[in-house]
Amino acid sequence: MINIAVIGYGYWGPNLLRNFHEADGARVAVCCDQSEPQLAKARKRHPTVEMTTSFDAVLADPAIHAVAIATPVRTHYEMAKRALEAGKHVLVEKPLTMRVEHAEELCALAEKKSLVLMVDHVFVYSPPVQKMKEIVDSGRLGKLFFIDSVRINLGLFQHDVNVVWDLAPHDLSIVDHLVGRLPRGLSAFGGSHAGNDIEDVAYLNLDYGDGLIANFHVNWLSPVKVRSMIIGGSDQSLIYDDLDASEKIKVYNRGISVAKTQEERRQALISYRSGDVWSPNIANTEVLAKMTAHFIECVAQGRHPLSDGRAGLRIVRILDAAQRSIKTQGGRVTL
Ligand SMILES: NC(=O)c1ccc[n+]([C@@H]2O[C@H](COP(=O)([O-])OP(=O)(O)OC[C@H]3O[C@@H](n4cnc5c(N)ncnc54)[C@H](O)[C@@H]3O)[C@@H](O)[C@H]2O)c1
Repeated sequence: MINIAVIGYGYWGPNLLRNFHEADGARVAVCCDQSEPQLAKARKRHPTVEMTTSFDAVLADPAIHAVAIATPVRTHYEMAKRALEAGKHVLVEKPLTMRVEHAEELCALAEKKSLVLMVDHVFVYSPPVQKMKEIVDSGRLGKLFFIDSVRINLGLFQHDVNVVWDLAPHDLSIVDHLVGRLPRGLSAFGGSHAGNDIEDVAYLNLDYGDGLIANFHVNWLSPVKVRSMIIGGSDQSLIYDDLDASEKIKVYNRGISVAKTQEERRQALISYRSGDVWSPNIANTEVLAKMTAHFIECVAQGRHPLSDGRAGLRIVRILDAAQRSIKTQGGRVTL
């Protein structure tokens, strides 16, 4: 039985606590938050879990095997570092850190101490994204040409990070999982409209260097909620709509054919294919339950998580590059 401490019981921490509480193979031994009112809420819902305001006490307790950190982004590096130094396995909320060198340091530390360092890139555990991975890996889409991702709504404004650091980790981690490599470079634009210099609308353009280009739109000001991604391939294309209750993924056998011979070219350079649309059946499992179960399994069996520190580092690299590009309104940054 793995004893877990959940650190941070604000907006997201309660979801982690509930899922670890219900998971097999682990128990939530402690909930830690520096705010007494937040702890009072946690105590009401989980009377058997020990409550503390002291992170030091959690780290000093040899009975705690792992910590799940759901505190603000600016605290991730320091808290994860201290937890790893204290010999605890660590699950950190996304994004792993706010600086590339901090993420590198955490990865090296976890590897040196043979501890699990996992980032909550929650979408890579979701059934639709796993289905997308299966479809992309099968080669059904052909060569990937473009990705167009939109994650917009009237958002929960964060105080310590902009919309890129808050929302883009979701889509970047999905694409990282699907294509398995870093882009060659990017340029990004962002705008701040609340008088606080924190960008609330942003566009990221990533170039993978082999014909694949990807666009990400993240936005806290949109009057409507959209969570969609189009993946266009040479053979087929896929649309992922996370808000569609029954058909989250649709695969379109549509596209263009480019003339190959002189004769074909004389008739038309481009011709269009319009085939069937297919929507695979997708399991309806709570994604956080899958993510927490994966963490427990990795700790219990000494396995490498799907969203390990290195995956977290790749996303921080892209976020950092996007931030630098936004400063120059679209200046290209090489990765
Ligand atoms: N995976 C997801 O889909 C998802 C969704 C929302 C938020 N998040 C992530 O979760 C993290 C927390 O976000 P949130 O919206 O819950 O923030 P929040 O501000 O609502 O909650 C953070 C909590 O941490 C506590 N805290 C801060 N510093 C602490 C410390 N040193 N020791 C103990 N407690 C401390 C605060 O008192 C607060 O209760 C962020 O990294 C965010 O990116 C992830």
